[in-house]
Amino acid sequence: MIKPQVTFKLLLANSKPLVLRPFISGPASAAFHTGRALGYQKEIHEQWTKTLSDTKPADDDSSLNSKIDENRFVVTWEHPQATLQQLHQVSVAHHQPKNLSDRIASRVLLLIRSSFDLFTGYHHPPKGKENDPNFQMSERKWLERFVFLESIAGVPGMVGGMVRHLHSLRLMRRDKAWIETLLEEAYNERMHLLIFMKLSKPGIFMRLMLLGAQGVFFNLFFISYLLFPRICHRFVGYLEEEAIVTYTRCIEDIEAGRLSDWNTRKAPQIAIDYYHMPPENQTMLDLIYYVRADEAKHREVNHTFGNLDQKRDRNPYALKIIDDKGTPQPAADLSAPKPTGWERNEIAA
Ligand SMILES: [Fe+2]
Ligand SMILES: [Fe+2]
Repeated sequence: MIKPQVTFKLLLANSKPLVLRPFISGPASAAFHTGRALGYQKEIHEQWTKTLSDTKPADDDSSLNSKIDENRFVVTWEHPQATLQQLHQVSVAHHQPKNLSDRIASRVLLLIRSSFDLFTGYHHPPKGKENDPNFQMSERKWLERFVFLESIAGVPGMVGGMVRHLHSLRLMRRDKAWIETLLEEAYNERMHLLIFMKLSKPGIFMRLMLLGAQGVFFNLFFISYLLFPRICHRFVGYLEEEAIVTYTRCIEDIEAGRLSDWNTRKAPQIAIDYYHMPPENQTMLDLIYYVRADEAKHREVNHTFGNLDQKRDRNPYALKIIDDKGTPQPAADLSAPKPTGWERNEIAA
């Protein structure tokens, strides 16, 4: 049924419906009127010809490779901007375990990493054997590894955010702003997955592996986070270290010409939009640099969280400290990197 041409507005934060204005005052009013209240900050004006009730099940194709119009979606978590120099400065680093809980986190991670390698057919080449055919990774193998890695990497932030959210509700206590950073990390990891799914169609075996892996990993991580959140953040810090090793090796493969045309092939549009990739840097190689930089931020955030008092300390990534002396402080973007995390005595109270 064709409807008359109308303008459709999402009546959310920015649209400031007059009827609600008198009921919102104080800081909430400021957030509301500047469009920060709900995160949905944009108005969508478009001509529409059918309502949701006019759609058929076939229209609701939620497969990630469906031809949906990406432009209709509103980005709720804008990705922080990064310069090319910042992206290229990311490097492999390792947090040296300092106590028993660090060593436990590191050992568990090594165990999981070996399983990852087995399932994704990955053999890390010793130095000098990068060109050995036994260690070569094809495009398909890289994408399978990325999909597997990202589908697991999206779990911890959601679990941590969820547990802290419930804790805050149940005990009626403030959370000190950890939840937002953790949920944003989970969102960011899922965006990585959505991007790679544009290039890879996993088969039934991979889907079954993901099903099993998520079922086991989610539950184990959930219980562990309830009991030992600090060890869990250290574990995620080590997991992210491995992700950076993986993406660094992929970058080396692309730059050495071992990976077909990824240094010239255009990245998927969803990635270009999400990262606001500049027109001159929109190749698959550029994309891997962006993704690796995200992993570097996760590495830093989780190692920092692993250093903090889980109950008392505020999230240093949620408050920008302006220091006249220029002492660097944790930042949500890549402006003050600290690969192995910030110590408590380095963070302004
Ligand atoms: Fe990721
Ligand atoms: Fe990550």
